[in-house]
Amino acid sequence: MAIRPILIYPDPRLRTQAQPIVAFDSTVHALIEDLLETMYAADGLGLAATQLGDKNRIFVMDLSDLKHQPQVFINPVILSRIGRQKRQEGCLSIPGAYEDVVRAARIHVRALDRSGQSIEQWSEGLEAVCIQHELDHLDGRLFIDHLSVLKRERLLKRFRAKQATVLPVTT
Ligand code: NI
Repeated sequence: MAIRPILIYPDPRLRTQAQPIVAFDSTVHALIEDLLETMYAADGLGLAATQLGDKNRIFVMDLSDLKHQPQVFINPVILSRIGRQKRQEGCLSIPGAYEDVVRAARIHVRALDRSGQSIEQWSEGLEAVCIQHELDHLDGRLFIDHLSVLKRERLLKRFRAKQATVLPVTT
């Protein structure tokens, strides 16, 4: 297991379309462990392989208070979406930036779990938001893509200003 660096916006690799996993080999299992370890180390609710510069279609999530209920979604698909909800979102790839995003209120998801078993579930609330956010990553989309141009520009301006102040000193 290893903590891997998380790609930071505007890294172009964040726009990569992830590819379905066809074989559950040791590489996939190692990736799952790295995703979980990196997510926990960064104190995130979810993390997609795309954010580690990996093209496999997989993300992990843990919404439990004690961070002891890891969920793994492999080749996830949203089968249906119902209603709308607005919730503030952030992203480990755009650190420090938060904005309200409108997404489906309830979703029906199908995926494979870490043992390759097919799972289907309905999710709502924060869980539904998190799944939609992470699945977006696998399609090269970021939460800022859901904002109006005005809100996105305002958020990115603040983000760039903050990033400029945290650049490493090179003396
Ligand atoms: Ni994210």
